[in-house]
Amino acid sequence: MRIYSRILGTGSYLPEKRLTNADLAAELSQQGVETSDDWIVERTGIRARHFAADTQGSSDLATEAARQALTAAGISAEELDLIIVATSTPDMVFPSVATMVQHKLGTAGCPAFDVQAVCSGFIYALTIADSMIQSGSAKRALVIGSEVFSRILDFKDRTTCVLFGDGAGAVILEASEQPGILATDLHADGKYKDILCVPGHVNRGGILGDPVLKMDGQAVFKLAVGVLEETARASLAKANMTDADIDWLIPHQANIRIMQSTARKLKMSADKVVVTVDQHGNTSAASIPLALDTAVRDGRIQRGQTLMLEGVGGGFTWGSVLLRY
Ligand code: UT7
Repeated sequence: MRIYSRILGTGSYLPEKRLTNADLAAELSQQGVETSDDWIVERTGIRARHFAADTQGSSDLATEAARQALTAAGISAEELDLIIVATSTPDMVFPSVATMVQHKLGTAGCPAFDVQAVCSGFIYALTIADSMIQSGSAKRALVIGSEVFSRILDFKDRTTCVLFGDGAGAVILEASEQPGILATDLHADGKYKDILCVPGHVNRGGILGDPVLKMDGQAVFKLAVGVLEETARASLAKANMTDADIDWLIPHQANIRIMQSTARKLKMSADKVVVTVDQHGNTSAASIPLALDTAVRDGRIQRGQTLMLEGVGGGFTWGSVLLRY
């Protein structure tokens, strides 16, 4: 009998502070950086994003999302036997955000660790949790994507600072005989490190290098469009399914043009793509679980439907998870 990882519940959290493009453009203009709502909407589809308060770290956002997911799943934190957090913006160099979330949820004992695969982080974390559930080493896993990218943006660089936001999304997975995750597919290629990176790091009590996000947007765009189609097709092939079997495409939310292009390649109509980039911006590892939770809560995603989750990001890393909800 095959053991599947089935989604029991989802949750998400967005910080209170919301900035529309006009709000952000006004703030940037005071520093001599010119941008506009028109440019941002036309090139990216983004209309607004949320920024965490100075007192909030990734673990705070993650804990809020986790609480919602636990409530939706109808289980308590003590019943978890695995916690994985995907993040590239941890509260500290160490310990991990996952151990902080575990403590904030008032539990202890189960393994808890972070996964760092930037915007593909949630896909990586979900795949690891699925493997641990299939192998029998976990029965109930909390998997979170949580980011405070506002902390690593250069607000003098208009080509990047308008694109990102903060937030967290979470799922509870449970071992089940009923179909859940059907297939997964992960990849990485380190030769692309310089097209999307934060080169700075902590060194002997200071910061060495520039601790803000650098991106060659066009190079990332071209790579993203190619690998998102490839990885979706790879997961479908592993599950003996075709693009016609997908009810909802939930891609990493970076740019509406990348998502539309991926949908076209998979012969899916635009209304089968869950889009939250307009309201959240790019929240890196949080974007896929945030989009998933949004569409679950507004009733679009129904039990029994087939979902294709896929991400791409720094590393370069990319991958997909095909699942029956
Ligand atoms: O999560 C990780 C994955 N990341 C991504 O998927 C990002 C992928 N890349 C992209 O989404 C797009 O490449 C961007 C949105 C980053 C840029 O869009 P683009 O259509 O590739 O624009 P561009 O870089 O070619 O810039 C076009 C023009 C330039 O002006 P000139 O040189 O033509 O005069 C830029 O200086 O737009 C200018 N520009 C801006 N203007 C107003 C760049 N940023 C801005 C801005 N406001 N914020």
